[in-house]
Amino acid sequence: MNTERPKWNQEGDLSIPTPTTHIKKVSDDLRNSLESRFKTHLRVVESEQLSCEQYLLLMQKGLVRAKELLQRPGEMTPAQDFNVRGLLYDLASQVAPDARISELNELITRMRIRESSRVIDLMSGTGFVSRRVARITQSGVWAVDSSYVQLALQLLRTEPPYPYPHDIWPIKVDLSSPDIFKTVNLAGEMDVADSLGGLHHVSKEKQRPLFANVARLLKVGGRFVFGDVTDMPEGLPLVNHFEHTSAKCITGHVGHWLNEDRLREEILPGLPLRVQKIEVVPIKWRFDSLEQITLFFMGLHALDVDITMENLKNNVILDEIRHFLGITKAGKTYLVGWPLMYVEIERVSGEVPESV
Ligand SMILES: C[S@@+](CC[C@H](N)C(=O)[O-])C[C@H]1O[C@@H](n2cnc3c(N)ncnc32)[C@H](O)[C@@H]1O
Repeated sequence: MNTERPKWNQEGDLSIPTPTTHIKKVSDDLRNSLESRFKTHLRVVESEQLSCEQYLLLMQKGLVRAKELLQRPGEMTPAQDFNVRGLLYDLASQVAPDARISELNELITRMRIRESSRVIDLMSGTGFVSRRVARITQSGVWAVDSSYVQLALQLLRTEPPYPYPHDIWPIKVDLSSPDIFKTVNLAGEMDVADSLGGLHHVSKEKQRPLFANVARLLKVGGRFVFGDVTDMPEGLPLVNHFEHTSAKCITGHVGHWLNEDRLREEILPGLPLRVQKIEVVPIKWRFDSLEQITLFFMGLHALDVDITMENLKNNVILDEIRHFLGITKAGKTYLVGWPLMYVEIERVSGEVPESV
């Protein structure tokens, strides 16, 4: 297979060097206004360890900019949501790069991948999972997302001047679309598909078509492993957090929660996919300080709240996290509860129905 990587060309477009790389020239109206900002953003956040004050300033500017983008006409799709708040989401992961490490480790362990496994990271965002996967497979990973901004940040971070030794092939597509195989010529090729924290962004009626596409991507015997928010009893603190705190998200955050019953009764019947394991795991996110927690959540959910240097350690974001998720301490580390459902599914033999 040709594994040449997409490159930024002179104009800053993402060009397609070969038919096997799937990112298309993107016509999002956001592109022109954001492109130079991506590079400035990366230069700033990658330059050195920024102080809380610097991060707060960047978050505040990011919120103002995101609100301007929201004034533009157009439908608020999940892709557009993550285009508008993409830089803020990325800032969050720079504020506390190790916060979600247990969540990632849990997923990676369940994926059971090794060198040369063919893996596709679905709803890949800025590459939190794909970068780790590519280190394990040594042979690259496909990274799918419907948001141009998220993929562009991922791509820029793995190109010079930020050298990254492994291949990541971005694919910009809506995974629930019936047309994905017009652009994604990977049917039946994947050993493992994974997704972390993405499926609840897909409306309930589009979740089954998305799972059908995942079945089409997998080899027989291949596996789909995902972690996501669930409204099963052990997962409810996180649902409550989402429904309360992230309701302050500037773009609005609507969650379409998954659970074992919906999977078994609504989503999977008739698809050649068999559940191997479903488990809600009491993940904890880790932080160095209360200030870091505030800034991380402000960026993660694009929270439009009045945060200043004076209230960085004592504010409504922290109050609500304490209330819904709990903040505990282990030594010097602050732990925030983040119970996630992990699901392991196997592609069994059989056709995927054409329309689902
Ligand atoms: C919360 S982020 C998670 C990103 C990454 N997996 C992580 O753990 O940091 C969810 C991502 O799902 C993407 N997304 C939402 N709906 C999608 C769809 N229908 N097809 C492809 N990507 C989608 C969004 O653009 C966003 O980047």
